[in-house]
Amino acid sequence: MKKTLLTVLLLALVLTLASCGGAQGDTEPFMDGSEKVLVVWFSASGNTDAVAGTIAETLEADTFEITPAEPYTSADLNWRDRQSRVSREHNDEALRDVELETVTPEGWEDYDTVFLGYPIWWGIAAWPVSSFVAANDFEGKTVVPFCTSTSSGIGESGELLADIAGAGDWLPGTRFREHPSASTVREWVRGLRLEGETESSQSASALAAVSEGGLVREQVLEGAEGPIHFSYILPENYDPSQKYPLMMTMPGYGQMWFGEDSSGSNISWNGFQNWADLDEPMIVVSAQLTDWNDKSARQANELAEYFIKNFPVDRGRVYAAGYSAGGETMSRAVSMRPDLYATYLHVASQWDGTYAPLAEHRVAVYIFMGESDEYYGSQKARDAYAGLTDAYRAAGLTDDEINQLIILNIPDAAWFREKGVTNQHGGGSLIFEDRDVLNWIVSFEK
Ligand SMILES: Cc1cc2nc3c(=O)[nH]c(=O)nc-3n(C[C@H](O)[C@H](O)[C@H](O)COP(=O)(O)O)c2cc1C
Repeated sequence: MKKTLLTVLLLALVLTLASCGGAQGDTEPFMDGSEKVLVVWFSASGNTDAVAGTIAETLEADTFEITPAEPYTSADLNWRDRQSRVSREHNDEALRDVELETVTPEGWEDYDTVFLGYPIWWGIAAWPVSSFVAANDFEGKTVVPFCTSTSSGIGESGELLADIAGAGDWLPGTRFREHPSASTVREWVRGLRLEGETESSQSASALAAVSEGGLVREQVLEGAEGPIHFSYILPENYDPSQKYPLMMTMPGYGQMWFGEDSSGSNISWNGFQNWADLDEPMIVVSAQLTDWNDKSARQANELAEYFIKNFPVDRGRVYAAGYSAGGETMSRAVSMRPDLYATYLHVASQWDGTYAPLAEHRVAVYIFMGESDEYYGSQKARDAYAGLTDAYRAAGLTDDEINQLIILNIPDAAWFREKGVTNQHGGGSLIFEDRDVLNWIVSFEK
């Protein structure tokens, strides 16, 4: 059982490094650092250009931008206009053989790995790239296509280019959204390095992310029961030789995982960001799970274990928080694995877990619910409090001890009004603005 978990975690580490938010058709690790790499791209409106720049910077690679002899103006690119240049070229393949300013990059024959980037136009690679591919010799080269698009995947665009080239080893490549973060692109590039399959490179990429303020967004862990989408924040001046508290915090329904378009919607949530603003540096993780049942609870715990294993986490100071649907999930997660968590903050939610396991492990719990929460009402919070205090009493704790460990906070309408909020369920997240409460949560240690 332990061995299986280890295998899953190791596999997960490799897959996480090899994958990135918004990327599809990912390529397996293949680079060992000895390659001479050229990044080639065409970009009509700058999106692919930004991605290409990050790839080149990460790999310290040479660059070549494909430039049509007659550049595309924004009127040319208006695909809604049936008479625009792109529309005419789309409708008549004969017009797609675009003349290029320079056809062959300098020293082309010396490169053994070529990253080839383009925007998707009507489901395929923008055709100036086809002109480039048709005009150059790809014999002996490994080619990694990458593209940006509004919503289409990379599809068959790479295969179609490989057909035109008629030579070279064309890898599946990947698709990015129009404006992926630099760290998303860098994570993908690092995942392509064979030498990148180690924990030290995880630390290295974490360090690189920290120089940008510590947010590492839209990651995917290929967990035992499927992908787990998450973002995390590492403290400023992150130092892997230190130990940090870990906060696992799960958002409500509106910020859960509903496919690519929802990716990263939990990032601006104050229940995620505000932990990172506390005086004490900590690692903060927020997953976008797909439901609020046992599977999501197991995935939350799997992700916590992944961080404990792969990051410098103070094992006695792992915390959990959940808001609304995220609270339903985390009440299950904490009662499944009370050994993992020192404290749990349960916000505007119902308790779907059990109580006795928490009592056995003396987990501290803070329950917060508006008196007239529109979704749950406050009775569910009172019930959870009663269930927990009964369980802790049954485990032999005195009332004084219980009062130190379990808090029930049910503010009335005036509390919300004072903060300019009328909706008590949505306003539940305001508790994450209260530094005293957040500091209370992280004051416990196992
Ligand atoms: C002519 C044209 C056709 C496009 N077709 C698609 C498409 O089929 N699917 C898609 O998701 N995005 C499509 N897009 C959006 C672009 O792929 C997307 O904005 C891309 O990031 C632009 O990259 P660039 O700024 O490097 O040119 C199209 C854009 C243009 C101008």
